[in-house]
Amino acid sequence: MKNQIKINKIINPFKKKIYVPGDKSISIRCILLASIATGKSEIFNLLKSEDVLNAVNAVKKIGVNCIKKKNSFEVYGVGINGFHIKKNTTINAGNSGTLARCLLGLCSGIDKEIKIIGDKSLSKRDFLRVIKPLNLFGTKVVSKNGMMPLKIVGSDLLRPINYIENKGSAQIKTCIILSAINTNGITNIKAKKSRNHTELILKNFNYPINIKKNKKYDLIKIRGLSQFNSFNYNVPGDISSAAFFIALTILSNNSNLLIKDVNINPSRTGIIKILKKMNAIIKISNRRNYKGEITGDIYIESSNNLKSINCDPKYNSEAIDEFLLIFLIAAKANGISKFRNLGELNKKESPRLDLSIKFLKMIGIKVYRNQDNIKIFGNPNLKLNNKYHIKNFLKDHRIFMMSIIAALTLGGKWTVDDKDSINTSFPEFLTIIKKLGAKFS
Ligand code: S3P
Repeated sequence: MKNQIKINKIINPFKKKIYVPGDKSISIRCILLASIATGKSEIFNLLKSEDVLNAVNAVKKIGVNCIKKKNSFEVYGVGINGFHIKKNTTINAGNSGTLARCLLGLCSGIDKEIKIIGDKSLSKRDFLRVIKPLNLFGTKVVSKNGMMPLKIVGSDLLRPINYIENKGSAQIKTCIILSAINTNGITNIKAKKSRNHTELILKNFNYPINIKKNKKYDLIKIRGLSQFNSFNYNVPGDISSAAFFIALTILSNNSNLLIKDVNINPSRTGIIKILKKMNAIIKISNRRNYKGEITGDIYIESSNNLKSINCDPKYNSEAIDEFLLIFLIAAKANGISKFRNLGELNKKESPRLDLSIKFLKMIGIKVYRNQDNIKIFGNPNLKLNNKYHIKNFLKDHRIFMMSIIAALTLGGKWTVDDKDSINTSFPEFLTIIKKLGAKFS
């Protein structure tokens, strides 16, 4: 089959330096925010994946001109409340929950109906989490049980809200911030800690947003209807893409890897903090501040001395997209690893908590689950000889890539379906894996 990868051999030791493509969260935010800036913004190193290209197509549909240049994307922002919508506009958010949820906030001030649809995986995901605050602003969203297709009818007379976001979801937070920008007056959000790229970008424009940091929550005050100028932005490398190579190196023999120019915003580095506690050798150098984001180079070495972790749920949001890999490493660690309150994992592109447990059991690892908490009984001598076929995972890109890392480090004969799933977040994944010496067909 064309869309399958077969791996029969673990990767040979490697010592390499690589770059990963631009951060997906920041790429999507740059496109959406540039669409409401005034004038031409230029975005460099934008991730060229389906999720981001769907963001480009989405803003085009609401009247924003975007032009792909050799090294950048130009976005001709129309200012707040400047969108032009044709009758019967339908926007396809594809696979991206981030795009669909943030787009609802961006469009909350448009008083014409827009239909938002997505692929099979996105059509199973919950939108009530953003419909609730949007309704409070005065935006109408029609859906069936909070699921796609969605019809949004905004208003140019929204009212500011006070809202408590307690899932630790940056998508919900960003949706509310974008809607607050469309609203006259001051919106207050008490938001459980989550990635803060939207706030950092807005702060960098001198947008009137104020953030008070408490231990578990950020108190965000944002004034609406403040026009801001276009901007230039150079998107740093995506730590969620780097994570696959961090795991590959840790689980390989006698290897080391330097990943250059990665975004190491503390709200995204849960994987590094967790893996270091598990004895992984990870070093960060060349730290720099870029428009409020921190970037750096990540150096990793193979490890044969991994230990289990009792993982503090305070890392859950910071590592939310990396748990598939963290579980894989826990499978090779000495001892029983414990993870708690991971219900949000089942709300992703696929039910990742359920599927991880299935995966770990398939490779012979004992897993104990109690509601949203799991215990993984690690086996440092784990070596596989059987045949494994990874299929029916709702084309979840991160399950595909995690399975490739497992196949390249644990042994056995693997067939992994739905290779094209990587196009949503990381089209260059297999090219980089090949560069590191992996053999696959
Ligand atoms: C994202 C936030 C996270 C993450 C997703 C990207 C973002 O989702 O899982 O891949 O760009 O805001 P939640 O905010 O729903 O946890």
